[in-house]
Amino acid sequence: MREYTPLTITDAVLEQMAVTPDPRMKEVMEAAVRHLHAFAREVNLTPAEWIKGIEFMTKVGQACTPARQEFILLSDTVGLSALVNIMHDKTKMEEATSASLLGPFFRENTPKFETGAQIAKKTEGKEVAMYGRITNAQGAPVPNAQVTVWQTAADGRYDIQNGIEEIDCRGIFQADDKGNYLLRTVRPLGYFIPLDGPVGQMVMSQKRHGMRPAHIHFLISARGYRELVTALYLAGDDHLDDDVVFGASADLVAHVKDDDAACPIKGLPSIHFDFSLARESEADKRAGRVGADPAAVTANNGQDTSKPYGAPPPEMAAAVAAKKPGIFGGLFRGR
Ligand SMILES: [Fe+2]
Repeated sequence: MREYTPLTITDAVLEQMAVTPDPRMKEVMEAAVRHLHAFAREVNLTPAEWIKGIEFMTKVGQACTPARQEFILLSDTVGLSALVNIMHDKTKMEEATSASLLGPFFRENTPKFETGAQIAKKTEGKEVAMYGRITNAQGAPVPNAQVTVWQTAADGRYDIQNGIEEIDCRGIFQADDKGNYLLRTVRPLGYFIPLDGPVGQMVMSQKRHGMRPAHIHFLISARGYRELVTALYLAGDDHLDDDVVFGASADLVAHVKDDDAACPIKGLPSIHFDFSLARESEADKRAGRVGADPAAVTANNGQDTSKPYGAPPPEMAAAVAAKKPGIFGGLFRGR
């Protein structure tokens, strides 16, 4: 029998996983195990701390519903989403508008609006116009791009935080054949990420402020171009430099102007921002997004404890039996 030490245990796991047929899965899982073990050795993880970590991850999973994605929030608050996003953004074929986080509040169920329409049900005197152009990397207009926006309502909350049935402050617009888009919304507010779950507990116990700067999310797509997931951050917000999910960047800061003569809607404060799209590569088509509609991620997150554990698939048992005629072999011999 092998004797494991704090170092050889890592090699033993890697050895056992070495036959993984999918090369990318093998690469990712080997690195994950190496770093996970190194982490445990570095902090000299105790059994009590290890089980506390498991309890925490369990609570994160249990908090996920079709209206809430606590794991994305966890990934966001430890900077993993930002890291994956930054690395992904560097793979663009050409320079274009930077990506930002999709976050946990995007949803597929978003109404379509006509150009210039208001996406907020209640504006409470905080109405703003938004306009600009969608271009390619060289500055030429991209006609008819689809522009999806979502943001907090005037009270600083996303619709989905009030329940899955409520839909507000999100909409899909189509830019015109010259690349122009135009919509009305309300001035977004900076907000606390959800603090009422395990991730909020973590953030509060770390004495972090838990705030995101005011922003508007965008998802822009056009045939032949790489999908742009980004957000605009309002100039002057106190938390542009210490966003709790590390999403804000200087090139995505937008200004609200009170008297922009170029704005197609008169008499409203406005934000002007032009977006540029990079051409789409083959790899872009498979890259996915850093985030998702909670309902698309959460399936069968039930609390059904009535079912017994399932049996191993017959082929797994048969493979063990074939290698080890003996106790198990006896069970399968003659079948
Ligand atoms: Fe957001």
